Formats: sequence, structure tokens, C-alpha cells
Amino acid sequence: MPPDDPLLKVDRLTVIFHGRERQTIRAVDGVSFHIDRGESLGLVGESGSGKTTAGRVIVGLTTPDEGIIQFCGRKLGHGIGHSSRQGMQIVLQDAAGSLNPRLRIGISVAEPMVLQRVGSRRDRLRQVDELLDKVGLPPSSAARFPRELSGGQRQRVAIARALAARPNFIVFDEPVSALDVSVQAQILNLLNDLRRELSLTYLLISHNLAVVAGFCERVAVMQRGRIVETGGSRAVFRSPQDAYTKALVAAVPRLGPKVVPLAASQ
Ligand SMILES: Nc1ncnc2c1ncn2[C@@H]1O[C@H](COP(=O)(O)OP(=O)(O)OP(=O)(O)O)[C@@H](O)[C@H]1O
Ligand SMILES: [Mg+2]
Repeated sequence: MPPDDPLLKVDRLTVIFHGRERQTIRAVDGVSFHIDRGESLGLVGESGSGKTTAGRVIVGLTTPDEGIIQFCGRKLGHGIGHSSRQGMQIVLQDAAGSLNPRLRIGISVAEPMVLQRVGSRRDRLRQVDELLDKVGLPPSSAARFPRELSGGQRQRVAIARALAARPNFIVFDEPVSALDVSVQAQILNLLNDLRRELSLTYLLISHNLAVVAGFCERVAVMQRGRIVETGGSRAVFRSPQDAYTKALVAAVPRLGPKVVPLAASQ
């Protein structure tokens, strides 16, 4: 694959759910976008607009009704275990809150390596230490249980777990929405550092346009299953074209520069 081809290309993706009264919900309705290597694309939109469903389809947790996904130049088959999806990870909405409460952090972080049969037990222990260090946690956290950590620390664990599978592309679904604003900035900074250090490509899902605009080079705005606007983050944030995007921008509280420090990294 030529290096300037996008890493991920999604073409007319559609997911239809059937509600209780048998009504059809087009949760994702003909969505197309691409993400270049090393880029961060933000997917933003109000609750129920289809962001999570789009992310789940890309990583194979949900099967699309229509559409094509290309990753590393290859058309993807269905299913998360499909070999063509190697290299993809998702940090699910509330991943931090869903860590197994009975497992020590080290075991949770090692789990993807165990599933992929990576290395010996000793190799994995060493890698857990490295991963914890990468996400800014001390080695001693490996022996702790999720309830002993703060929300921000748990989110770091969820990130370490995703990294354990050695991905080159990660979907983050609302990675900071459950966190205090000051902790949000720390986690977003961590994600940005990891992206550079490990040459990662991201799809960042958030209902918060300020988070996305500060973090991502480009944004795609979703409303009722469709993408209504895409463009450079600054351009979309400063001069939105679509009426829905305008409303989203207007709804963003005026935040101080401390809270949106990542625009400088673009
Ligand atoms: N498994 C499912 N079965 C039926 N309907 C579903 C299912 N999952 C999602 N939906 C519906 O699809 C639509 C999109 O949901 P989705 O979770 O993708 O939105 P979202 O943009 O991630 O919202 P939020 O910001 O609240 O996380 C909603 O109308 C939702 O009710
Ligand atoms: Mg969601």
C-alpha cells in the first residue's frame, strides 16, 4: 500500500437497529470518511447520533448492514477476531469503569497479551511494567485493584490495556467525559504523547466539540447517523458551515486556554 493512502477508509457505512416496536433505527446512515496515518480524527455529535455504533463497526464489534471498511489497504471481513483487524483496538465508552473489579491491574493489562499468546509469563510481567510506565502509573499499581485507583488512573489502565495488543490504530470512545476537567487535560496530553511516541493513528469519539477541536487535526460532525460536516478542527470550530455544527459550537462553554492546550500540537 502506498504510504500516502489513508490508514482507514470507511465508505457508506450503514447500521440499522430494530427497536422494540419493530421500528428501524438507522444508527449509522451512509457514513464515509478516512483517517491518514498518524492522524487523529475526531467524531463529534450529540448523544444518540451514532458515534459509538460507528466506532464499534470499525473494530468489528458490530456488523454493518452496508458499507466497506478498508484498513492498511485491505478490505475488512466481519468480526473482531478477523486477522485483517490486527492492529486495531478500541477503548470503550466507560472502559475505566468496566475493568474487572476482581482482577489486579497487572492481570488486566496483561490479558490482551495472554489472548494473543505474546511472550512468556516473565516477558509479559516486564511488559506490564513498561506499559504502566508509558501511561504514567508506578509499577506498584500492577498489584492494585481497580477500586483502589482514581478515575483518571483507571482510564490510564484502560489505555495501557489497549496498548498491550500493540495496535497502530485506536478508537477512543469518550475517553475523558467521565473525568474532572483537570484530569481530562492530563489524559488527552498522555494520548497525544503516546500517539507521537508509538506512531499511532486515532479515532477520537466525543460529544464535546472543544475536546475534539483541541485534540484532533480534523473533525467529522455526526447528527442522526450522518456526517453533516467534516474539516480541519480549527476551521470547523471557528467557522462552522452546517446549522447543527453551529449549534454545537455555540453550546461549548468558553474554556480557558489551560483546558484546551492541545491545539498547539497541531
Ligand atoms: N444495540 C442496539 N440496539 C438498538 N438500538 C441501538 C443499539 N445500540 C445503539 N442503538 C441506537 O442507535 C442510536 C445511536 O446510538 P450510539 O450509542 O451509537 O450513539 P452515541 O452517539 O454514541 O451516543 P452517546 O453520546 O450517548 O454515547 C441510538 O438511537 C441508540 O438508541
Ligand atoms: Mg456513545
